[in-house]
Amino acid sequence: MEKHHVVTMLSEQEIDARIRELGMEISRDYAGKSIHLICILKGSVYFTCELAKRITIPVTMDFMQCSSYGAATKSSGVVRLDKDLDEPITDRHVLIIEDIIDSGRTLNHLKKLLSQRNPASLKICTLLDKPDRRVVDVDVEYVGFQIEDKFVVGYGLDYDQQYRNLPYIGVVEFE
Ligand code: IMP
Ligand code: MG
Repeated sequence: MEKHHVVTMLSEQEIDARIRELGMEISRDYAGKSIHLICILKGSVYFTCELAKRITIPVTMDFMQCSSYGAATKSSGVVRLDKDLDEPITDRHVLIIEDIIDSGRTLNHLKKLLSQRNPASLKICTLLDKPDRRVVDVDVEYVGFQIEDKFVVGYGLDYDQQYRNLPYIGVVEFE
């Protein structure tokens, strides 16, 4: 691992406040329905749990894992499905929960894959969005924060599996 340090970009309080807003917005948008959250392992675990606690309509959850990054900080462009969902999503209101959208490849791929299973609706909610890095177009309905093109960690996001447990989002600065 290259020598580096982590500088705070978004504090725990800022993230918490934004997740509350997202929870209210989603609860309003899906009023009268129940929602099926799909957590994309492992990065989205923290965000999914916090968001789910702020949603006031009935919630169910499932987990899926895919990889496009490996151990490096640049996307390989290849999306591999490592763990599929446990349950079918047919006729359910599905909301994919992602930690960050970078090139857009992961979500573009996942959205296509899941839409073939005929959900009642299929939307995306991401904690972070790096619009400057987009390579593949993808519609995202809920965005926590748009950020600059920096490599970030914390709140589930890792650098070589480290820092997921930071309660804030930090930028990795290489020395
Ligand atoms: P995409 O397919 O290029 O949009 O990449 C999305 C995935 O890349 C995310 O789910 C993350 O796992 C990873 N990723 C992208 N940017 C960052 C970052 O700044 N920090 C940590 N992981 C990142
Ligand atoms: Mg991820």
